[in-house]
Amino acid sequence: MSNSGLDLVAGGSGFIGSHIVESLLAEGRRVRVLDNLATGHRSNLQGLPVEFVEGDAADPAVAEEACAGVERIFQLAARPSVPWSVEFPAEAEHANHGTTLALLDAASQAGCRALVFSSSSAIYGDDPVQPKVESLPAAPQSPYAEHKLAGERALAAAPESLRTVSLRYFNVYGPRQDPSSPYSGVISLFARWAKAGEGVRFHGDGGQTRDFVYAADVARANLLAAKAAAAGRLAQGAVFNVGTGSSVSITELWQGLCASLGRDSGEPTLLGDRPGDVRHSSADVSAAARELGFEATVPLAEGLGLTLDAIANENA
Ligand SMILES: NC(=O)c1ccc[n+]([C@@H]2O[C@H](COP(=O)([O-])OP(=O)(O)OC[C@H]3O[C@@H](n4cnc5c(N)ncnc54)[C@H](O)[C@@H]3O)[C@@H](O)[C@H]2O)c1
Repeated sequence: MSNSGLDLVAGGSGFIGSHIVESLLAEGRRVRVLDNLATGHRSNLQGLPVEFVEGDAADPAVAEEACAGVERIFQLAARPSVPWSVEFPAEAEHANHGTTLALLDAASQAGCRALVFSSSSAIYGDDPVQPKVESLPAAPQSPYAEHKLAGERALAAAPESLRTVSLRYFNVYGPRQDPSSPYSGVISLFARWAKAGEGVRFHGDGGQTRDFVYAADVARANLLAAKAAAAGRLAQGAVFNVGTGSSVSITELWQGLCASLGRDSGEPTLLGDRPGDVRHSSADVSAAARELGFEATVPLAEGLGLTLDAIANENA
């Protein structure tokens, strides 16, 4: 069993992964990143002392190389896009589930202690019950959600020597979220539109609600989950929501961003519904508080301010 102090972050060049890398380094851990740069960027890790392995985490030989000598694994490698998974289900299965299977296999062969999987609230589908509690039956409505559910089930069936835990993120936002992708987080896009003085375009009618959780909080949830899993304190494959416990509508979010910039919110342009999108989403966060000691601490207004500042710095 490895006690090397070395952690692997698969998908570590991406938005959330780079926040986990920062938090691990701040705790004095050594970090290896595995990423194929499909949606991630080397610049997200600029100046950070990490070992970088470029490759496809779904390739067993790459996964084996990346897991060698590693104590704990954070598995984020995926293409986090519902519409892309609807359009290209086979490629999406490779990126979203093949990665998890290859890493689970390589991790148990290499004697790693724990693997934390980045799952998604998309697993709850459009069940009207709010807030979503982990014991609700899964109701995936897209290939992306199916792949995340399959990943959770594979973690639950992993050999007991490798301790596993899945975190179902709600809507994560913060610095380094990629706005150039048409699928990227709504806050990142809205923040840029609001700053540029542009009008807003909504999918649906703007009445959809989401639980927005700041990326540094999500990174902290990962570190707590890794510690609890490695210490054997969690059931194998335990699943936890990661959110704030409160939700806002897309319209309220846009108005809040405009207000913080002192501009008028204007009239939205309404686009059609997106396939596989769910209408309401709010998290029950009591299990993560009880078993991981995790609570989100960054309020939305503060997180929005930090995100706007980061965008201003990029453009400075
Ligand atoms: N952003 C959110 O709100 C959110 C919500 C729920 C779940 N998640 C999950 O969190 C994780 C990180 O999401 P993100 O928003 O940071 O997205 P991201 O696209 O910024 O990060 C994903 C990273 O994985 C890498 N990657 C993709 N396929 C790979 C492969 N085959 N091999 C190696 N690397 C690969 C990408 O290059 C990228 O760096 C994903 O698993 C995503 O499904 C995100």
